[in-house]
Amino acid sequence: MSVGMGFYGLILGAICLCPWLCLASGEGHVESNLKGSSNEMACNMYEGEWMLDSSYPLYDSSACPHIRKEFDCLGFGRPARQYLKYRWQPSQCNLPRFDGKTFLTTLKGKQIMFVGDSVSLNQWQSLLCLIHSSVPEQPLISEQPMDQTVYMTNHTYPSYGVSVIVFHTTYLVDIVQEKIGRVLKLDSLQNGRIWKEMDIVVFNTWLWWWDYVQVGNKILKDMDRMEAFRLGLTTWANWVNTEVDTQKTQVLFQGISPMHYHGIEWNEPEATNCANETQPIMGPTYPSGLPRALFVLEDVLKTITKPVHLLNITHLSQLRKDAHPSSYNGFRGMDCTHWCVAGLPDTWNMLLSAVVTS
Ligand SMILES: *[C@@H]1O[C@H](CO)[C@@H](O)[C@H](O)[C@H]1NC(C)=O
Ligand SMILES: *[C@@H]1O[C@H](CO)[C@@H](O)[C@H](O)[C@H]1NC(C)=O
Ligand SMILES: *[C@@H]1O[C@H](CO)[C@@H](O)[C@H](O)[C@H]1NC(C)=O
Repeated sequence: MSVGMGFYGLILGAICLCPWLCLASGEGHVESNLKGSSNEMACNMYEGEWMLDSSYPLYDSSACPHIRKEFDCLGFGRPARQYLKYRWQPSQCNLPRFDGKTFLTTLKGKQIMFVGDSVSLNQWQSLLCLIHSSVPEQPLISEQPMDQTVYMTNHTYPSYGVSVIVFHTTYLVDIVQEKIGRVLKLDSLQNGRIWKEMDIVVFNTWLWWWDYVQVGNKILKDMDRMEAFRLGLTTWANWVNTEVDTQKTQVLFQGISPMHYHGIEWNEPEATNCANETQPIMGPTYPSGLPRALFVLEDVLKTITKPVHLLNITHLSQLRKDAHPSSYNGFRGMDCTHWCVAGLPDTWNMLLSAVVTS
């Protein structure tokens, strides 16, 4: 099997799901005081605005040897480079600039793993490029397929003994091939034994696609996706509660990564994708508010009794309608789901670094 196949399947899946994803954005607000979500930081780094900064981008993506064609926007001819020039400015403090040496030195001997769908892959790629720009040593690389859609790729920096790993699994919970089609087991999570050995794990899942969903012994065709998402996340949350030693393993969850296929969300009702977007939304407000899936995620995170940090990137990413590959990627489809590297995921990693190295 090729590592790329799962990714393409995912892109198609995400595009098919667009009609219901458009329903996913709603108004409303949930008061939240999740354990660990901002109290280890001096300020809420997730609140702020995008500012032009001529010293950006943080690295030249053409010099990054690990960049996949799905995210290599400059390599595939994106003409306007303005999207590389924005720095996230939290309203109450400054976000430290990413420094690969400090990152690897602070995490010496540790393993950090991104577990989730292709958006996890996106963030992992950005982290590899960020590290490469200040620590150009060649990592040891191993790839390990588990089955058709699940695989693990491990980059280890020998001088620091740090492993930066991606564990690609679309749903966190299990998916198995059965006679009737792919069945998603919302109440089962087999791969956790590998995850809980890590020092730091960043989970993420949202771009769902499947044929059948199984809960207990019942197979349901086409249950409410938001309800399925809640059930799947709850299985994961129970696993954290019962299985993960958070003294040893620091657990983070990446907030919902937004898509830009519905211009009505950002007051451009004519736009049906991100193709013409060259500017972020300046200022602190995304017109349509937060997506419903984030409220589901926050609800489930509240049921976890152990410290779990929400890497709350949803809102700051919503403002970046300009930061997707659109058609500038290796498969020439319109992609307003993933993000260019260099680009927005570098900011996610600066936030991650601020959390795990503090
Ligand atoms: C990643 O690779 C390093 C170096 O080979 C190894 O020590 C570590 O166990 C690997 N991690 C996983 C999760 O396979
Ligand atoms: C993008 O802009 C071009 C030229 O201004 C226009 O023809 C096209 O319809 C726009 N596309 C979208 C999706 O808005
Ligand atoms: C995440 O960010 C959103 C938007 O800024 C905010 O409304 C929400 O309360 C935050 N969630 C947590 C758990 O801090």
